[in-house]
Amino acid sequence: MHIAVLAGDGIGPEVTAQAVKALRALAANGPQFEFTEAPIGDAGFVAAGDPLPAETAALAVKADAVLFGAAGTYESDLRPPEQRGGHALLRLRKQMDLFANYRPVFAFPELLGASTLRREALEGVDLVVLRELTGDIYFGTPRGIHVENGERVGINTMRYTESEIRRVAHAGFRAARGRRQRLCSVDKANVLEASALWREVVNEVARDYPDVELTHQYVDAAAMLLVRRPRDFDVIVTGNIFGDILSDAAAMLTGSIGMLPSASINAAGQGLFEPVHGSAPDIAGEDKANPLASILSAAMMLRLSLGQPVLAERVENAVRRVLAEGLRTADIMEEGAQLVGTEAMGDAVAREILRLAA
Ligand code: IPM
Ligand code: MG
Repeated sequence: MHIAVLAGDGIGPEVTAQAVKALRALAANGPQFEFTEAPIGDAGFVAAGDPLPAETAALAVKADAVLFGAAGTYESDLRPPEQRGGHALLRLRKQMDLFANYRPVFAFPELLGASTLRREALEGVDLVVLRELTGDIYFGTPRGIHVENGERVGINTMRYTESEIRRVAHAGFRAARGRRQRLCSVDKANVLEASALWREVVNEVARDYPDVELTHQYVDAAAMLLVRRPRDFDVIVTGNIFGDILSDAAAMLTGSIGMLPSASINAAGQGLFEPVHGSAPDIAGEDKANPLASILSAAMMLRLSLGQPVLAERVENAVRRVLAEGLRTADIMEEGAQLVGTEAMGDAVAREILRLAA
């Protein structure tokens, strides 16, 4: 199994190294993985003058799966948009047509105290935000900043075609079918035409899935419900920008965005797996970042792209054991727990993977 490792910038390399460590631990008595590293983000810009070097994109397309870290640095954000680290990720998502972005939010019982929200609200939370990833205001044109009547005007375009909505809606219904059969579609149909069409098309697709209970929420109400009654959600399907925002909010249900993995899949089943968090340049290189989101992303890769559900479960169980043991990175630290760094957390997970296999 050939895995493209695009660690990127900031804490990307540190956390991705721990995910690779976990995969290597699995390989000790299982399938072999071949890892090929390539620069992306600011690292790509520095190495090849382009945040998404052509060789990196080609590697990603031909690999069995892509393990991505994070892209973007303070310096690169000062450059024009197409030279910024984070831009590489948007281009890669678009080039590979990774339209379905799954962001599972699972409240580990061991971490209920690490959230700023009350334990009673979080117990049993187990939901997925399915974010459309290749359309919407992220990619719509016209866009840009120009001068009009002597002042600057910034423009972006929220745009969805029927077929873009339909394919992610199908993905949403299928995901709900494999879970608790509840799908909540989130839009802003009371104000936006792009959303009105979204709702119409989702309702059309719903006819193929009579076994799934479909509800609709406006994004503002959904944001409120996510913190008020998060247990009520099973699968949320929504557009690119709403999904971006709601998934950060939902991250707090797990205690930390450092716990949230994600999978971005195209129609051919190819996938890119990455932690939901960004490059966090403020703590880069300090052995402080939580590698569990990256490690859990590797578990999603095993399940969704590499056909290895048993190994995926082993990784997830190893994470749970390490949490149960009381090991915590700073972002999920609680009184009485043992504070560890990125590296030590990765070592502990690898150790448990080996134990679980024995
Ligand atoms: C995410 C991130 C990205 C996004 C940024 C880094 C471009 O916030 O994956 O959620 O907005 O999609
Ligand atoms: Mg985001």
